[in-house]
Amino acid sequence: MLVHGVSRINIAIDGPAGAGKSTVARQVASKLGYVYVDTGSMYRAVTLYAQRNGVSANQSSTLQQMVEQLEIELIPTSVGQMILLQQEDVTALIRTREVTTEVSHYASNEHVRSHLSKLQRELAINKGIVMDGRDIGTHVLPDAELKIFLTASVQERALRRYKELTSDNYIPLEQLEAEIATRDKLDETREIAPLIQADDAILIDSSYIGIDEVTDLIVSLSQKKLAEVMG
Ligand code: DC
Repeated sequence: MLVHGVSRINIAIDGPAGAGKSTVARQVASKLGYVYVDTGSMYRAVTLYAQRNGVSANQSSTLQQMVEQLEIELIPTSVGQMILLQQEDVTALIRTREVTTEVSHYASNEHVRSHLSKLQRELAINKGIVMDGRDIGTHVLPDAELKIFLTASVQERALRRYKELTSDNYIPLEQLEAEIATRDKLDETREIAPLIQADDAILIDSSYIGIDEVTDLIVSLSQKKLAEVMG
């Protein structure tokens, strides 16, 4: 698509938790001058709001009303994406363990998914977006010009999380592995928009290649795709 004389595409990056999607997506967006959209942060914001208001994941009609009135804004900044919930900066608050362990349950609700998918499609309308999530290539942006499915083994993903921990938030490696495997299973087996590789997505396994190499690979794939689109 030609916007103001500059041609841009949309890039969808899906995959399980901890495969490096957000770092890669942020780096790819920065190298291409695109906007990075972290859709997981939107599910996390809904979870935080529901928890604060005592709404559980199985109160479907209450969740529907709640999510449709919620004001969620994503603001690109030089250090990543800031997220505002009802105008409050919740960028750090949505990363707590309390939200992380519960978010899959809220993310499997049909009303939450359809509302957030609609917002995500609106964000991508003018192209030039790198969007990461679980269902971007399959449901949110099925027409994205480039689709990547980024994965890594459970052990490698747990080890990456483990290395980020400090003595204040220490969690044994075995527990991290179990939590990641549980979250994968919930995301892969939910009825609506499960985590699955789109038929036309390119599979990249980051178990044995560095994040920077993955970024360079996706940038070069996107340049090739852009040349194709431009004819
Ligand atoms: O990428 P993340 O860990 O921040 O995602 C948080 C949760 O949201 C995760 O359990 C899966 C869910 N999610 C989803 O179902 N669909 C998306 N497009 C993005 C995230």
